[in-house]
Amino acid sequence: MPPINAEIQVIRKQLNDYAYQYYVLDEPTISDAQYDELYQKLLAIEKAHPDLITPDSPTQRVGDKPLDGFKQIKHEMSMLSLGNVFTEQELKEFDERLTELSGVSPICYAAEPKLDGLAVSITYLEGQLFQAATRGDGSTGEDITANVKTIKAVPLKLRGDNIPHKLEVRGEVIMTRSGFERYNRQAEIKGEKTFANPRNAAAGSLRQLDPCKTARRPLAFYAYSLGVVSEYLKFKTHSQSLDWVKTLGIAVNPLNQIVIGAHGCMQFYQMIGEKRPTLDYDIDGVVYKVDDLALQIKLGFVTKSPRWATAHKFPAEEATTIIENIDVQVGRTGSITPVARLHPVVVGGVTVTNATLHNEDEIRRKDVRIGDTVFVRRAGDVIPEVVKVVLSKRPKGSQQFNMPTHCPACETKLVKLEGEAVLRCPAGLYCDAQRKQAIIHFVSRKALDIDGLGDKLVELMVDEGLIKTPADLFHLKKQDLIQLERMGEKSALNLLQSIEKSKHTSLDKFIYALGIREVGEATALTLATQIKSIKALKTIKAEQLEELPDIGPIVAKRITSFFAEEHNRQVIEQLMQAGITWDEIQTPSAKEQPLIGKTIVLTGSLSQFTRATAKAKLLKLGAKVTSSVSKKTDLVIAGENAGSKLTKAEKLGIEVKDEQWLVDL
Ligand code: IVH
Repeated sequence: MPPINAEIQVIRKQLNDYAYQYYVLDEPTISDAQYDELYQKLLAIEKAHPDLITPDSPTQRVGDKPLDGFKQIKHEMSMLSLGNVFTEQELKEFDERLTELSGVSPICYAAEPKLDGLAVSITYLEGQLFQAATRGDGSTGEDITANVKTIKAVPLKLRGDNIPHKLEVRGEVIMTRSGFERYNRQAEIKGEKTFANPRNAAAGSLRQLDPCKTARRPLAFYAYSLGVVSEYLKFKTHSQSLDWVKTLGIAVNPLNQIVIGAHGCMQFYQMIGEKRPTLDYDIDGVVYKVDDLALQIKLGFVTKSPRWATAHKFPAEEATTIIENIDVQVGRTGSITPVARLHPVVVGGVTVTNATLHNEDEIRRKDVRIGDTVFVRRAGDVIPEVVKVVLSKRPKGSQQFNMPTHCPACETKLVKLEGEAVLRCPAGLYCDAQRKQAIIHFVSRKALDIDGLGDKLVELMVDEGLIKTPADLFHLKKQDLIQLERMGEKSALNLLQSIEKSKHTSLDKFIYALGIREVGEATALTLATQIKSIKALKTIKAEQLEELPDIGPIVAKRITSFFAEEHNRQVIEQLMQAGITWDEIQTPSAKEQPLIGKTIVLTGSLSQFTRATAKAKLLKLGAKVTSSVSKKTDLVIAGENAGSKLTKAEKLGIEVKDEQWLVDL
């Protein structure tokens, strides 16, 4: 083999190994940047030696030429669907039926998340990806080979030595939620079509005639069964067959489990239900499959689905209802949000009466009107939203909704700031609605966490003139409270006690409680641990803040303007006088912070860190990170292609280290 070909083989193997570690084992061993570097190297060699390009090279995923249409593919073995159960009772009946038919008790099930994407069949011939097809009507699908080849989680070539002549795997193509959001954000900026949910996005991507476009979509794949296999396989169970699929380099869902009987199924269903909001992909239930393959054969099929498997669906998270009215809400920072008041409807097990319409542009885009029948979606704990109007059900004579021109709470003229989609009331804390929201935020769980002080009570207290600022809370007396509607003596005393208790807090919670725009829990924690006192925060400069991890110019500006505002300074002063305290931030020891007192500049491109992670590591070790090299700089860390900053450092005789030094620290 000529040496260049040998080198190509080595790089391809490395790239395939990295992809396997990332997608199948879920244990990445190198950074994206390192992968890219190696990939670029391969690309360059292949460009110089086009005759050495093979279809299974990782570079061949970028997407073939556009297609005229999709060829039809007949499935050798039908792609079946699944029966459903919705309740524990139905699940028990399913298990009892199988126990009775098979004479086996208890039955072991392979329990798997039910991925909400698209079923595809992928065929490998002699270990090479040969063909991929959609499920279609179950007997004939569409040829989407060119598109599936662009999915990095699908190997172009199988791993290992024991590869059958022909292997068909079946599984689900999904788009991750994070990828979906990223994609939609970019599509919006470019004025391109956005998708309603990750499933539609995955479907749209697979039905894309230009594979180059599919290549740019963040798709993933998990195998869940075998189709046609040329050799006799000696597996006893479905789960063993999936373990084998994994060794071939194909990703299998890591949450799959073997469970026993209906009780085990139910436990799995609950466990997955709890995990669901934290997963980066959508699932719409779980699937139970009899694990024993011989038993599967014995149980057989009913028309279009196997008798030995069923889907246990989560309650629907989308439902249709009627918009009875549209109101606008004033947020803590003055944002004006239109809200649809709905005819009550149960969505995913919860009764929903309000749904956000986001902003004026969204109302126009979806053309939502009072009286419309709409789809409402509720995902996890987020506020339900109106997804789409059912135009065929629109009542005659319905009117477009227009946003108000003045604040519904304080009547100040609303403004739209440059680059923002939302209307805002600029009155700040002079607006009663914003004042209420600021106090609601101040007492909320992640902030001062005042027990027994709910939104309604805060609103009432502001309306009754009992409180104007968070500081007023700490001067409330029992007599003030018991005059409020439905407030007994006992509740009043309890509330006073909670208020008293909340006085001892932590600096990060206090900073978060102030409700500075763009300062969430994480930023508040950074400010608390890095700046260490409110006094220092009051006078800090934007440039100093920008040196902290994850604080950019916009957030820095928000923080400095918050503390520059006289009214805010007064409230902080009053809060301190009311007796709010926190423990001193512990200063880490010199051993934990070897870089204490050092001013460091990062320059050039780093391969193992992003700028933010490099900066975070340095800060954690006690260093100060600045952007320009001067006599005050103690050290410069220079990555690849470092330019003028490195030259300047050398001129000034400043110590220079490379990226590895930072890695080893
Ligand atoms: S097994 C014969 N396992 O659900 C059984 N399907 O309603 C064939 N699905 O078309 C399917 N996750 O798209 C199976 N872990 C899983 C699944 C799963 C999602 C989808 C698949 C199928 C549909 C059946």
